[in-house]
Amino acid sequence: TIPRGVAPSILSADFARLGEQVDLVLDAGARTIHFDVMDGHFVPPITVGPEVAKAIAPRIHAAGAILDVHLMVERPERHVDAFAEAGADRILVQVESTPNVHYAIRQIRDHGRSPGVVINPGTPVDAVAELVDVVDVVLCMTVNPGWGGQPFLESSIAKLGRLKALVGDRAEIEVDGGVDAGTAGPCAEAGATIFVAGSAIFHADDPVAAFHQISTAAGY
Ligand code: DX5
Ligand code: ZN
Repeated sequence: TIPRGVAPSILSADFARLGEQVDLVLDAGARTIHFDVMDGHFVPPITVGPEVAKAIAPRIHAAGAILDVHLMVERPERHVDAFAEAGADRILVQVESTPNVHYAIRQIRDHGRSPGVVINPGTPVDAVAELVDVVDVVLCMTVNPGWGGQPFLESSIAKLGRLKALVGDRAEIEVDGGVDAGTAGPCAEAGATIFVAGSAIFHADDPVAAFHQISTAAGY
């Protein structure tokens, strides 16, 4: 079963003490840890790769939680093996990042991992029409990918409604970008069940309290 609720994104954590920061949100009750991989091509920044995923995966699994790897990279099919071996439980590929997105999804499934597909703000929901039945999760970006701390795109709420109408109960709907205690509720009403939050948790004075506030707003 796929854990629902708030998924802290470690992109906004203190990387000098990453293990502690992951433990903090696991102890608060997080059951999904979101891990943003950027390659400097699909999006301008470069973040982290399989070695860092491998370093934090054991503590995530020990807590009964899952490692949610969001690949913002060109040709993600070249990296699926490495992240699956590093301990990723869910691997999310951007529909815009490869002409072979269906193949990448099958690779993820062949590794016994859970596949997801991601659409950017400029990508219509119809882009996942042929993929809904082969993924477990559809992630709707609610900011343009590449950076934490951007404001939530309000047009996302109507888009989520269109996505929910397309997806129905065939896959979970995940939202990522600008999610906080104010935006989580409207996303939940529109059909989202997994809520990625980075800066709203890790830049808060009290990340544990922020995790609980966003969870409550999302209905969890
Ligand atoms: C952005 C990443 C997000 C990021 C969200 O490209 O995909 O996961 O961490 O950060 P916030 O929650 O600060 O918008
Ligand atoms: Zn992300």
